[in-house]
Amino acid sequence: MSPSKAKARSRAPDKKPAPRIAHKGILEVRELTTYFKLGVGDVKAVQGVSFDLEPGESLGLAGESGCGKTTAALSILKLLPENGRIVSGEVLFDGRNLAKRTEYGMSRIRWKEISIIFQGAMNALNPVRETGKQIAEPIQLHEGLSEGKAMVRVKELYDLVGISQKRVMDFPHQLSGGMRQRAMIAMALACNPKLVIGDEPTTALDVMVQAQILELIGRLRKELDLSFILISHDLSVMAETCDKGVIMYAGEVVESGTTSHIFNNATHPYTRQLIKAFPNIHEKREMVSSIKGDPPNLVDPPAGCGFCPRCDERDGSCATEHPQMVEVESGHFVRCVHVRSQRSDAFVREDEAAPDVRGA
Ligand SMILES: Nc1ncnc2c1ncn2[C@@H]1O[C@H](COP(=O)(O)OP(=O)(O)O)[C@@H](O)[C@H]1O
Ligand SMILES: [Mg+2]
Repeated sequence: MSPSKAKARSRAPDKKPAPRIAHKGILEVRELTTYFKLGVGDVKAVQGVSFDLEPGESLGLAGESGCGKTTAALSILKLLPENGRIVSGEVLFDGRNLAKRTEYGMSRIRWKEISIIFQGAMNALNPVRETGKQIAEPIQLHEGLSEGKAMVRVKELYDLVGISQKRVMDFPHQLSGGMRQRAMIAMALACNPKLVIGDEPTTALDVMVQAQILELIGRLRKELDLSFILISHDLSVMAETCDKGVIMYAGEVVESGTTSHIFNNATHPYTRQLIKAFPNIHEKREMVSSIKGDPPNLVDPPAGCGFCPRCDERDGSCATEHPQMVEVESGHFVRCVHVRSQRSDAFVREDEAAPDVRGA
């Protein structure tokens, strides 16, 4: 969202303050369902997605391209394109349900309370306006400062993200890819938000610069006590940066838990294949596309498990039975018909469980 667009949209005030709902974390996404309208039908891009975030916590949203990560983020901020709509569910941010907010109500939340860093800084920045002035825009808009005063803050932000203050009047094309992404991070932090969403913030960058930007995000998170959602198709990014993880497939969450649950006790066959596709975060990696087959068509998603056609472990029930999320151990949830709830140290799939020998 460009700040000028946000300004243009922020006309009519909400009639009355939105009610606050009892809440635990800073963000609770509950059964979020978002569709896109196409001539052939609705693309069911996000289906019943739930996750939550505590203050200061970082959450990784991972999965192959097309599984609904960006749509989930755009739904939280209500920045969906015209053919997109939130069909049902709640986005509780500090107890306010953003899914029900008006455009004006959202314009007061974006940048100031929740901001987003997009993947391609070159596309997100205006090529014919000085980068520093673009970062000053949301500060002027939300804090009511003059451009001169806002530019003082931009220089501080440049220091914070590691760009020389001398570069504030550079146009985007005069900055390197890494510097542009640092400028996008500066813009996301401009109004001191509580929650920042990074949508593949390092994907377009080379490996060295990726590592530097991730290091920067990690440092800023701690220094500014930010809550952070990091979206990536690359699980190693989640491993490096996040406290907990949410694995999405075909619009649904298929596994969620702490980063340690996801990496040390990955249970959904899709998560296990994703991890195999990125064998070691410090070594040469294969691409995610090494998982054979393609994700399903989300206009007409499969009746049973969405991953069934690609799953080596499928059996008859997988094609017909739509699995529910099951808590396999405290805080670790999996959506697979073969998995049953078992709160013990040694989690086992149902078909691998040892026979019951009591009384034998
Ligand atoms: N504006 C749109 N109109 C129709 N379908 C869309 C639109 N935007 C995204 N989609 C579809 O929604 C699904 C989820 O996309 P997206 O959220 O971008 O996934 P990801 O970020 O995980 O790559 C995909 O099938 C994609 O093709
Ligand atoms: Mg995306």
